[in-house]
Amino acid sequence: MEAFCRLDLRKLDSPPDVGARITAACRTARLVVARTHPAVGRHREFWDEALAEQCERVPVDEDVKTGLATGNLWSDVEFNPEFPQRFRHSSSAQPLHTDGAYLYDPPPIVFMVCHRAAPRGGATLFLDGQRLLSVLATERPELLTMLTGAIVRFNKAGVHVESTIIATPPDGPFLRWNYYTMRNQVSPDLLAIVENFHCFLQDTVDRSLPLAVRLNEGDAVFFHDARVLHGRDSFTAGITGDRCLWKGGLRI
Ligand SMILES: [Fe+2]
Repeated sequence: MEAFCRLDLRKLDSPPDVGARITAACRTARLVVARTHPAVGRHREFWDEALAEQCERVPVDEDVKTGLATGNLWSDVEFNPEFPQRFRHSSSAQPLHTDGAYLYDPPPIVFMVCHRAAPRGGATLFLDGQRLLSVLATERPELLTMLTGAIVRFNKAGVHVESTIIATPPDGPFLRWNYYTMRNQVSPDLLAIVENFHCFLQDTVDRSLPLAVRLNEGDAVFFHDARVLHGRDSFTAGITGDRCLWKGGLRI
């Protein structure tokens, strides 16, 4: 499987044709960046139709206050100054993570559709798992050994999973990582590993190692959640909705 694939689908009028191209690309690449015509592709209804025949949709939405799953297929990652402490609604930079870290059976593929781009900033960041593994092996082999060996606990809203942070099956690294759902769950000796990895990942962002994808309206990203870490740059925003991505989950 390749790390990355970019598709320009602005000339495809038929939503099912768009869905077929994207599904095929997701079978061969861990990250797919697709550009569709913004007049249609920025709306959820377009993607509901595009993906209806091609794959199984998996609900991803969580209640913003309790963190509990709502069962809704779509989740809004929308700037809203009412919730400055929630990455989902804030304008702050978000550290690299996997969305399904604390879920027993997370959606294998997560996708985000740009409904409204931030006035400035807000690029989505992707660090491919294979690249991460090779940088760790070169620069911090002792940390890599600990990340593949230690079992840690991720917990959110009473849902928890115990897992290694990096598993290394033959088909490539499999990642579970969400700093904020685990830092209070680990023993003091494991906390050092967690803090070290958190700092290491921030350092990769400071060195611009992740791919930065600035999404415009109608653009969408699809990624194999456990194969690629994602995060974002901070952005400028003033009022609710100044930046809005619609997020969903898929199985293909
Ligand atoms: Fe995320």
